[in-house]
Amino acid sequence: MYDTATQTATSTPELHLISDNSPLTLSQLRTASEICQQAVESVKARDADVKAQQLDSEFALPAANWSYDAPNEFVRVFRRLAQCDPTDIAHLRGFSQVFSGYNLYRTAPGAGLTTFNMEFGAGFDAALQAGLEQRNGPFVEEWKRLTKGLPPEAILRPAAMLGEVGHEIDGVIINNDTCTYQERVNLIVQSGLLAWLKARGPNLRICEIGGGYGALCRWFLSALPGVSYTIIDLPESLIFSQIYVTLSCPEGVAQFIPNYQAERLKQPFDLVINTLSMSEMSEYQVRTYLRFMKTRWLQQGGIFFEQNQNNLHMGLLAAEDIIATELPHRKKLREGATLRNGSPNLWSLEPINLHEKPSTWRRLIRSFGA
Ligand SMILES: C[S@@+](CC[C@H](N)C(=O)[O-])C[C@H]1O[C@@H](n2cnc3c(N)ncnc32)[C@H](O)[C@@H]1O
Repeated sequence: MYDTATQTATSTPELHLISDNSPLTLSQLRTASEICQQAVESVKARDADVKAQQLDSEFALPAANWSYDAPNEFVRVFRRLAQCDPTDIAHLRGFSQVFSGYNLYRTAPGAGLTTFNMEFGAGFDAALQAGLEQRNGPFVEEWKRLTKGLPPEAILRPAAMLGEVGHEIDGVIINNDTCTYQERVNLIVQSGLLAWLKARGPNLRICEIGGGYGALCRWFLSALPGVSYTIIDLPESLIFSQIYVTLSCPEGVAQFIPNYQAERLKQPFDLVINTLSMSEMSEYQVRTYLRFMKTRWLQQGGIFFEQNQNNLHMGLLAAEDIIATELPHRKKLREGATLRNGSPNLWSLEPINLHEKPSTWRRLIRSFGA
């Protein structure tokens, strides 16, 4: 229920547990299994491909916070999921702490916790339910604030499958991660970026570098029907986004490109996205992505939406400082506001005027002498 006077959702939230999700069909499990095999082959072939195709290994191999030596669990989670156990696939979202920093099944921040060794034995559901009842309430309140007054297309709706859990209001499953990605959607909508994209017309092309488990991709596929969405990520991580997006949004046009083949993408994009990711890469990798943007991806007036933390205190990067040395035009979003993660910016090779007609239109109009 929606109260038009206060413009907020008013229904009483109900718990949404794993048993409330749609079970996976045999055909979905077959698709997941194919994706797992593909990811395993992609990881196995990486070293040989890099050599055979004379790719740049400094760019191609996982580095900085994502290197095989770094203290993170992404390799172990990958190895577990790659076995494609149907129970694990049905709990995919429970393994995504490595992307969101939040342990969904403990209803707790992920620091100090792991998911690669999770077991779904007796007592799992009861503990999950108790955790949600005790600790998920604040996210429901935050979500109500975040979605107040938003049009329906701007509401992020996590898929009721693949292990999503939380409280449900009007069909939206709410947890920490719902708030994280809703906040990002708010930036995209309230900055005028969504309207700007729509005004650029059909055949939109979006590229997300480091797409995590695919939450933002899924929202874009529903908000911009017909969009072509490309996720570039480490093949170990693509296993998540590819399963999540393909199974939960089969009608969407999405392609999944291993990071070491990013150079293969020659066509311009309307929008390139990177969130909470470049500040965890090596500077060399970030500058290489920026070179691709400058020479190809942003060549037709495209915009780069970026939101990254300052990770200098961890011996990692403050990506926005590097981007500022490479891309000439910048619009800071929500300066001074307290946000969940990082500082959001729009970047481009051309001045950014979201409320004007897109520059490619202006160029076309000029070329026709209007
Ligand atoms: C902390 S997660 C953030 C995920 C998502 N963008 C978000 O905002 O929740 C970092 C993402 O960057 C990806 N990543 C790390 N190194 C990368 C690289 N060299 N190229 C592309 N993606 C990379 C990781 O695999 C992961 O998907």
